[in-house]
Amino acid sequence: MSRMLITAATALAFWSSLASTAVVTQLSSRVDTRGESTSLDVSVSFDVRAGARASMPLHHQLISLSIEFCYSIDFLGEPNSPNLFSRQLLQNVKDISGALPILRLGGNTQDKATFCENCPESLNSTYKPGSTEAIDVSFSKGLFTAMNENMPSKQEYIFGLNLGRNDINVAKAELNAASKYLDQSKVVAYELGNEPDHFTWPSYGFRPNDTWSMAAYVQQTLEWLPQLSSGKKFQYGSIAGSPAVPSDFTLVEALQLGVSKLKQVTILSSHAYQGAVCTPASAALVHMEDYVNHLHTVRYYAAYIGEIAAAKSLGLTYHMGETSSAACHGKDGVSNTMGGLLWTIDYSFYMATLGLDRILFHNGRGDYFYSFWEPVGGVNPPTSAHINPQYYSLLFHASAIAGLDSPRIHRVAHLDTHDLAHYAIYSGNQLKKMVILNTHLHNGTTESRPVKHIDLSPIFGKTMKVKRLSAPNTIAKAGMTWGTQAIDGTTGKLVGKEAWESISNGVVDVFASEAVIIETGR
Ligand SMILES: *[C@@H]1O[C@H](CO)[C@@H](O)[C@H](O)[C@H]1NC(C)=O
Ligand SMILES: *[C@@H]1O[C@H](CO)[C@@H](O)[C@H](O)[C@H]1NC(C)=O
Ligand SMILES: *[C@@H]1O[C@H](CO)[C@@H](O)[C@H](O)[C@H]1NC(C)=O
Repeated sequence: MSRMLITAATALAFWSSLASTAVVTQLSSRVDTRGESTSLDVSVSFDVRAGARASMPLHHQLISLSIEFCYSIDFLGEPNSPNLFSRQLLQNVKDISGALPILRLGGNTQDKATFCENCPESLNSTYKPGSTEAIDVSFSKGLFTAMNENMPSKQEYIFGLNLGRNDINVAKAELNAASKYLDQSKVVAYELGNEPDHFTWPSYGFRPNDTWSMAAYVQQTLEWLPQLSSGKKFQYGSIAGSPAVPSDFTLVEALQLGVSKLKQVTILSSHAYQGAVCTPASAALVHMEDYVNHLHTVRYYAAYIGEIAAAKSLGLTYHMGETSSAACHGKDGVSNTMGGLLWTIDYSFYMATLGLDRILFHNGRGDYFYSFWEPVGGVNPPTSAHINPQYYSLLFHASAIAGLDSPRIHRVAHLDTHDLAHYAIYSGNQLKKMVILNTHLHNGTTESRPVKHIDLSPIFGKTMKVKRLSAPNTIAKAGMTWGTQAIDGTTGKLVGKEAWESISNGVVDVFASEAVIIETGR
């Protein structure tokens, strides 16, 4: 009986993943029902050696952070007054995996920023009433001091320079100051300009519509990058538009226009926002169902395969250099929930299976519902500094790679359904762990929580241990536990005792809106 169910589900998964993006896939009912009918026995069986051959590197900094430039000091703290909450939250990740996520300081406001040698403030942002993105930003040496000293030692950065202003002296002054005041061993790359494909938008007005294009951008960077200090590395592109939408701004196009001539470029970067809350009309289209649907995530982000290939064809690193659930700072009740957290993990791990190196989730203050944390409190409750559920993705990834010399990842696609994702984690060619996400929507209104009984004995035998990421339900904004531990809201420290469950019958129960990491052995 359960085998038949699985066959049907597997067939649906196959069909769905093959369906063109134009086809609206029919999904099985998401309504939570009671009892046996939503219990499903899944048998995790696949060709482990073929999986190793198809696997991709799982980067030790896969999940990293982007911080809107005008909020840099809020996240880092002032010189001699570090933001201890941010520092602890980063340290937690390093304590698990030994690796710190990268911090990129950039975004729309990097193109409004200028360096000011004699300004008294580390960072001075000016806002229009009602807007949480600065219209003018100046920074002084204090910002670099904070970058050098405030975060855990060996903290690495990507630093955004101003291209919007269209004045090379502005970018030169920023880069010269960084060369002088910023510890260069902390710099992974600089980045010239943010989302150049939006430079003609009336809200920016950085370039005229009739002359600005991908070709013009490439031409300008061919002229500018060699004039900016030599020996520096650059992240390039940061194109906002999805490659699925016809546009002349793509990395594939940049490749054809001769980006390989720029020896300074070491990273190609895309930006992605699956939805937007910039207008009431766009916000109304942002639904939880589109984030906790694994096959939707796969179909949506498969559009980046060509962009990743463009980077890899030049031997470059590929970043999703700024991203999150919905543009214009996320949607309350979607971005900042357990469902948002599961999407963050699923999206990141799926991109890794396509060959992406790092994915940088964007952060800001106030109405930034997609932020991993609020560094100093915001206007929305709770008004003190706090984490959002998505922060746990950093800890989840850290545990997934912990103890592995050369982590690799493979998506076991034939097992996947709209609400079940299977990632095999290897070290070299040895299968070490499985990551399974049950993204089934459970909003807490039904009495029983649907569960999947997952039989891993075909690959791991009967004895294994499980670390579980849980929360009360899909729409919960708090109450997440990771191996029964949780983040203390005041200190940012993990509290409680880390718990791995012991399994002796080969079967792991994963409830709706949970994720697990499974390892062999006791
Ligand atoms: C929870 O799900 C039920 C059934 O799908 C739906 O009627 C209800 O509106 C949902 N509640 C919330 C808070 O999302
Ligand atoms: C901050 O920037 C604003 C706008 O450019 C300026 O008027 C103000 O004097 C600056 N404040 C300081 C302390 O430099
Ligand atoms: C430039 O073109 C874009 C896209 O076609 C349009 O939205 C925008 O209003 C135009 N800007 C100006 C200043 O005409």
